Amino acid sequence: MSLPKDNKDSIAEPVKGLEGIVAADTKLSSVNGEKGILRYCGYNIDDLAFDTTFEETICLLYDTELPNKERLDEMTKRIGEARVLPKEVIKVITELSGKTSPMSTLRTVVSSLGHFEKNVPLNELPPKALRLVGQISTAVAIIHRLREGLPLIEADPSRGHAEDFLRMLHGKEPTPIQVQALNLYLILLADHGFNASTFSARVTAGTLANMHSAITSAVGTLSGPLHGGANEKAMEMIIEVGNVDNASSFIENALNTKQKIMGFGHRVYKVDDARKPHLKGMAKKLWEERGDMELFNISEEIEKQVKARKEIITNVDFYSAPLLYGLDIPTDLFTPLFAMSRVAGWTAHVLEQYKNNRLIRPRARYVGTIDRTFRPIEQR
Ligand SMILES: CC(C)(COP(=O)(O)OP(=O)(O)OC[C@H]1O[C@@H](n2cnc3c(N)ncnc32)[C@H](O)[C@@H]1OP(=O)(O)O)[C@@H](O)C(=O)NCCC(=O)NCCS
Repeated sequence: MSLPKDNKDSIAEPVKGLEGIVAADTKLSSVNGEKGILRYCGYNIDDLAFDTTFEETICLLYDTELPNKERLDEMTKRIGEARVLPKEVIKVITELSGKTSPMSTLRTVVSSLGHFEKNVPLNELPPKALRLVGQISTAVAIIHRLREGLPLIEADPSRGHAEDFLRMLHGKEPTPIQVQALNLYLILLADHGFNASTFSARVTAGTLANMHSAITSAVGTLSGPLHGGANEKAMEMIIEVGNVDNASSFIENALNTKQKIMGFGHRVYKVDDARKPHLKGMAKKLWEERGDMELFNISEEIEKQVKARKEIITNVDFYSAPLLYGLDIPTDLFTPLFAMSRVAGWTAHVLEQYKNNRLIRPRARYVGTIDRTFRPIEQR
């Protein structure tokens, strides 16, 4: 390696993947990877997971306080009213329908929505952020219905976010357990410290680029299989295993051939992901309601087989997969559903970044050749 000695960047050893680096302060969420605890604004998610709604989590992340009834009603109404897309954006989805993945379309949708927003001062930004939370769910439903050639269903602002989304997506009333399951999913995935997509949103916001640019960065970052894309891949694996008896040989082979098992492993958790038991329990409940335990049993067997062979934690994406599939969500909508939840955290982080901004700009160590002799193009 030839390192330019006149540059102090060349001396510093880079921290690969920024592992263990604390990049900023936040009041939004904290992850204790040793004990498997996730808190939103100081509240353990075990206390938030049940008997609350996604809207309550949004209030908590935006206000850093749990709402009273009046505040919650106001926010629920505003999110409900936001579940509408400009007709121009529906045209964009129509154009892209069937030509690209739902996650790529969603990225373009978020970017397009920015054209219909004015630049506003910081104190007027929360309503704009909230609009995006509402709009993303409608966009996911529309992306699906257009590609299936189904008529679009208008939002009903009087309904809760989870319930209305399922109705807009499937065109029928969801059961109370289905609404509870989606609420739980949306609550549990809403924020998670400086995960890759949140970090990319904050990097973009740190340049004082606008909210929609920051969230477009986040959607793009979430799409990768090492981040939000893992839930889709986990479901594909569960389907491919196909039978409880196949799990052992499938996992044996995957590990022997050094494949990454999707839904396992985590940069921060040293014990199972704090969200896993809740997602697992709810996935079980959903499949019990369906009267068909096959896919859930395969999932449980895969987990058992992985743990028997490797000391590796089960992360949020593994049991998200049978939960979402149990809601009849097609696998290529899994990551958009993740975005539908995480947009609460992304927007809250962008607001936090703007409030106390400092440009996020690390350095790189140059490891290429130095002091090369320049030759004009005709000599090359
Ligand atoms: C999440 C993830 C990217 C974290 O990566 P990381 O902190 O960089 O950890 P590494 O990829 O370096 O893994 C460390 C060790 O565990 C192994 N490992 C990690 N995740 C694994 C997985 N899912 N399956 C099999 N082995 C895994 C690695 O092979 C490596 O083993 P080695 O030391 O014998 O080479 C990684 O665990 C992964 O790719 N998981 C699958 C994708 C996934 O579920 N993503 C969602 C995360 S919420």
